[in-house]
Amino acid sequence: MNSKKIAVVGTGYVGLVTGVALSEIGHNVTCVDLDAGKVARMQQGISPIYEPGLDELMTKNSASGNLHFTTNHNEAFVGADAIYIAVGTPEKEDGTADLRFINAVAEDIARNLTSYAVVVTKSTVPVGTNDHIKQLIAKHTDIPFDVVSNPEFLREGSAVYDTLHGDRIVIGADSEKAAEVIEEINEPFDIPVFKTDVRSAEMIKYASNAFLATKISFINEIANLCERLDANVEDVAAGMGQDKRIGDRFLNAGIGYGGSCFPKDTSALVQIAGNVEHEFTLLKAVIEVNNHQQRLLLDKAREQLGSFKGKTIAMLGLAFKPNTDDMREAASIVLAEQLVLAGANVVAYDPIATENAKKVLPEAVNYAESPEQALKGADAAFLVTEWDDIKALTPQQYKELLREPLVFDGRNCYDLNVMRDHHIEYYSVGRPVVAPEKELV
Ligand code: UDX
Repeated sequence: MNSKKIAVVGTGYVGLVTGVALSEIGHNVTCVDLDAGKVARMQQGISPIYEPGLDELMTKNSASGNLHFTTNHNEAFVGADAIYIAVGTPEKEDGTADLRFINAVAEDIARNLTSYAVVVTKSTVPVGTNDHIKQLIAKHTDIPFDVVSNPEFLREGSAVYDTLHGDRIVIGADSEKAAEVIEEINEPFDIPVFKTDVRSAEMIKYASNAFLATKISFINEIANLCERLDANVEDVAAGMGQDKRIGDRFLNAGIGYGGSCFPKDTSALVQIAGNVEHEFTLLKAVIEVNNHQQRLLLDKAREQLGSFKGKTIAMLGLAFKPNTDDMREAASIVLAEQLVLAGANVVAYDPIATENAKKVLPEAVNYAESPEQALKGADAAFLVTEWDDIKALTPQQYKELLREPLVFDGRNCYDLNVMRDHHIEYYSVGRPVVAPEKELV
């Protein structure tokens, strides 16, 4: 393989995993970040994010000399065949993507370019942004370059696996030469490549995330119907999923989607549509359903407990999904805020995300060292994130540790019959209520 010199700007999830993966397949990669402390830690092989498998690959490729970290753009850009932009595009208050960081990097590239390079945008950016980046760079340099859109589809928690084993690599380019450079860089991944124009590639990213979010909100609405019609959403999803046109993935009903992508990208796409005078009615409904879904456990618990005042709620799981310490747009935030506001005492547990949670949850929340400690003496349990150590709790433990065996499960972690056999009052999503004691009355 023809090893290339690559610079990656931004060492968040996307940038760091991309850089590490590119070094793993034999390229010479320099990751750039403005944060000197973060760069120093990464140079010692300490990853700033919790991501299974990442530390090992970081250490291995740093040792082999394929992977470097620096705060110095110039050092990274000189002689680079490709410069990957992977900085954040946070959501502004109006739902649009904030392109401040992208613009700053584009200007930096222009100032430091010494020979032809392909500028590759990994960050999720509104349709048309790559054209804007191209103009911005061209304004400050005469050195030839091309801009390519190469969106990222990795999931947090399985980011390394997804990058090495993705379903497709999308290359959006208006220059055949640039597309070939990026195709060649990615060749060792042995993942199918889909080539298109820049704007379509930008749209593929938004459309994919919006479609997946739609799938989740759709099954959540079906779940809400199932609850009223005594059907079981798990069986409904399994039966639907056997139709290959539908597929069985992303049909898990629950308390909605969170994280750094779906909430932000769906809002941004609604805005992008609005900018060209198109009302994206369907996507607006997807967002509305999700906002409602996050509060579901509160409504169910209020109905049973009457009031939250003075009640202790064990909140199991805080991260927006398992295998990550990411709290962005996690349902636990809304739930904890509302519970505290209603006068409940919240005792929260998460195996990894506690430190991040402390920064975003209300101060009144208490933290437990183990799921058992959280449950001990609580009036009810809220299951918010389906971590393995939370799913490993047995019905017997709920019975022994809670004051009353009352469980509100936002992730459908338990078998209904098992909970019934253990006399647990159990409310899950889109499945019949289990209330053995009440049934006897
Ligand atoms: C997502 C996309 O999957 C990825 O391709 C894109 O690059 C970034 O956004 P991520 O946010 O890391 O990845 O997590 P993902 O595993 O997709 O889950 C997102 C949210 O949806 C989580 O809150 C999860 O709990 C929820 N979800 C997912 C469901 O509620 N039901 C499902 O069936 C699947």
